[in-house]
Amino acid sequence: MKDWIKKAVIYQIYPRSFKDSNGDGVGDLVGITEKLPYLSNLGVDVIWLSPVYKSPNEDNGYDISDYEDIMEEFGTMADFDKMLETAHSLGLKIMMDLVVNHTSDEHKWFIESKNKNPKYSDYYFWSDSTNNWGAFFGGSVWEYSPERKQYYFHAFAPKQPDLNWDNPCVRKEVFDMMTYWCEKGVDGFRMDVISLISKPEKFCDGVPDSSRYSHVADHIANGRHVHEYLREMNKNVLSKYDIITVGETACVTIPEALYYAGFDTNELNMVFQFDNMGLDREKIGKWAKKRPQLTELKKILSKWQEELYGKAWNSLYWNNHDQPRVVSRFGNDDKYRIESAKMLAVCLHFMQGSPYIYQGEELGMTNAKFDDIKDYRDIETLNAYKELVGKGIMSQEDMLERLAFSSRDNARTPMQWTSGENAGFTNGTPWIKINENYTEINAENQVNDSNSIFNFYKKIIGLRKKYEIITELKYELLLPNSEELYIYKRLYKNSELLVICNFTSETQEFSLPEYFDSTEIVISNYNRAAYSNTLAPYEAVVLGVNLQ
Ligand code: NOJ
Repeated sequence: MKDWIKKAVIYQIYPRSFKDSNGDGVGDLVGITEKLPYLSNLGVDVIWLSPVYKSPNEDNGYDISDYEDIMEEFGTMADFDKMLETAHSLGLKIMMDLVVNHTSDEHKWFIESKNKNPKYSDYYFWSDSTNNWGAFFGGSVWEYSPERKQYYFHAFAPKQPDLNWDNPCVRKEVFDMMTYWCEKGVDGFRMDVISLISKPEKFCDGVPDSSRYSHVADHIANGRHVHEYLREMNKNVLSKYDIITVGETACVTIPEALYYAGFDTNELNMVFQFDNMGLDREKIGKWAKKRPQLTELKKILSKWQEELYGKAWNSLYWNNHDQPRVVSRFGNDDKYRIESAKMLAVCLHFMQGSPYIYQGEELGMTNAKFDDIKDYRDIETLNAYKELVGKGIMSQEDMLERLAFSSRDNARTPMQWTSGENAGFTNGTPWIKINENYTEINAENQVNDSNSIFNFYKKIIGLRKKYEIITELKYELLLPNSEELYIYKRLYKNSELLVICNFTSETQEFSLPEYFDSTEIVISNYNRAAYSNTLAPYEAVVLGVNLQ
């Protein structure tokens, strides 16, 4: 794998909530361009841009009606070109979101398909009958089209019909579209639910769960041709450009990841795995909160570190637009918000793989915790509320408490730029409420404060550039049974890093192994000059021996 990819730190922008330049309450491309110097100051290398293509916005752009046009609310193609040019002039790369498991039902291909234009007839999955699979956003995966007088398949919302990748014409359309963007000069793709693109030959009923449906993911993840199609994509497009790729691979296992992201498999550079994302949710109904166990978290992250080492590449993330804020999940978003946000950054960024920072994470932004369903905008949240509260399965109070913890909107509130009106995000009315804590938590406060979370992230990013070996060291977990401390070593030739993180709001004891006598403090979230055996609440410290 290319060296620049191994060393890159990636920053995700959710354009709708990043920066509004024209007062319509929705973030846009001109707003992003304005803020590129902020990202360049932070020191990141690549920006993953959530979808900016033309879309009716059923799922905030993850339902595309034209892959070669820009969403009206976000601006024009000229604005995109200007953004790309400015990014490049600052040394920043742009990774596009590639949403090709499905299109919008307003995409030309789907309109032609439902109207039985023979050329497009098999671009989607059509059937005279249905089965018992349940969609990600609730309800059946089948929707009736009165025009075609058949049902079509959608793994997500009815307005997101799934493309039929078994049709070579579909694959060619997708590859041509990718080429269009590569020729424009973009630097990579984050591939939305790419593990779902290859469907089974037959759509047989499955075992239903408590929702009376059989979850679609159990039937379509890591399908029979997925690796073949990705290799074809690699040969036809990816291999021709110097670009970075990451697959969002729902239900990925280690053996599958070794194909998707293997060093010699010619598919993708890395994948997002989700094993640790469900740790604070009950298995039944993703909406219930449970206390995450540190030992479980360690087990999962260590497994991915160890089993991919030398064979494939990890992506490292706590946050994205689909997950609640990490400091509200695995940290303490109240008394120890600053300490725990920094500790979580340390814990993740010293592992092997490419680190991802989701907008606002570098400020320690917290969950929104809305207490009125009217404040929510996310289709998944609203559908679940309708289903559970509407049908009397859960009380309104209960559901709101759960959403305040787990809704995707927790991460989608606007970036908190300043302590001024609307957090400096917009001059208009924001499309979704701004988190009330913006007067305290905002970029303006942090950029010039050397002790801020922002500057701590900046320092960590800088260390990755300074010590070549951060990308190469081998991982080894210490104290696997501790529910309080996450400690791991990174080893490479005669160099060693020791990463010590206290995941609790109490002090903890840990004495260093003897040979760690003369060490360098690489970073400490309590600004320690020397190591102390008593770790303060949420303390994180990284020690190094023979670092190069
Ligand atoms: C995964 C995306 O991250 C999510 O936001 C979206 O709703 C689904 N894929 C469907 O595209």
